[in-house]
Amino acid sequence: MATIGALLADAVQRLRASGSDTPRLDAELLLARAVGTDRIGIIAHPDVPVGQDAAAAFAQDLARREAGEPVAYIRGLKEFHGIALATDARALIPRPETEALVDAGELQIVGRLARGAAAAAGSRVRVADVGTGSGAVAIALAVALRRRRILEAVELVATDASPDAVALARENAAAHALLDSISIVEADLLPASLGRMDVILANLPYVPSAVVAVLGGSARFEPHLALDGGADGLALVRRLLAGLPATLAPGGVALLEIGADQGVAAPLAAAAAVPGWPTVVTADIAGLPRVLQVDRPAS
Ligand SMILES: C[S@@+](CC[C@H](N)C(=O)[O-])C[C@H]1O[C@@H](n2cnc3c(N)ncnc32)[C@H](O)[C@@H]1O
Repeated sequence: MATIGALLADAVQRLRASGSDTPRLDAELLLARAVGTDRIGIIAHPDVPVGQDAAAAFAQDLARREAGEPVAYIRGLKEFHGIALATDARALIPRPETEALVDAGELQIVGRLARGAAAAAGSRVRVADVGTGSGAVAIALAVALRRRRILEAVELVATDASPDAVALARENAAAHALLDSISIVEADLLPASLGRMDVILANLPYVPSAVVAVLGGSARFEPHLALDGGADGLALVRRLLAGLPATLAPGGVALLEIGADQGVAAPLAAAAAVPGWPTVVTADIAGLPRVLQVDRPAS
């Protein structure tokens, strides 16, 4: 019977040869899944023998990873903003850089509640996550608000044009006991019929079509609809911006994730769509442009 250490060493070599950028991490996660433990268990017990069934399951997962399938799809889950989300080919795998959008949204909501803006209006803070995919942003935000005991003060809506993504987002919301707290609807962007929002969050597709066509890595397995942002990557962002007068309440804020190379083009698009509304681009932890903030003047 092969040991954990021996299977791991062989897998790392094979995954490196297959072109994985993270062969050790991939191998540890997949072996942990096959054995029914976590990464620590794998790292801490190299001499433990692996049973035949677990070794066979690991061999299957390894072959999928060698063929390029993302680890998150093979494992069926991805950690995001401190929570686990189910992931499969129905939606984009949540990216670490999107956690900044959740943090920015949380900050906005807390600020609004502290100022009593919603209470004064006699209603809850209305928040939308547009293009929710797996539900990552809306669910991570709701978990953070629940931890602060302010979830009830917020009305959360999540939309996606993909029925597959909507189904996955609902499954994830249910897994986090949030199905009653987030209204997840199949829709094109943010229909005005949903009413004006105080905070709009969106991680819409922003990769130019020509780039999507040649993307490698996990993108080869992810839905095209989740990546393709049109000719210059900003087609959907522009459409969402154009709709803001109808969808964003006076004094409200829209926070849009953008590509690292869109730090100039995205605010220009906002200036064209909603002239006179203040915009700012904030950087992610790598110092790259990541979130476009558009504020609607209060009056
Ligand atoms: C980049 S993914 C982001 C998914 C998720 N918010 C996240 O951060 O992991 C973009 C999402 O927008 C959705 N989408 C694309 N076009 C859309 C549209 N016109 N209206 C609503 N959602 C759309 C895609 O189906 C996909 O789920």
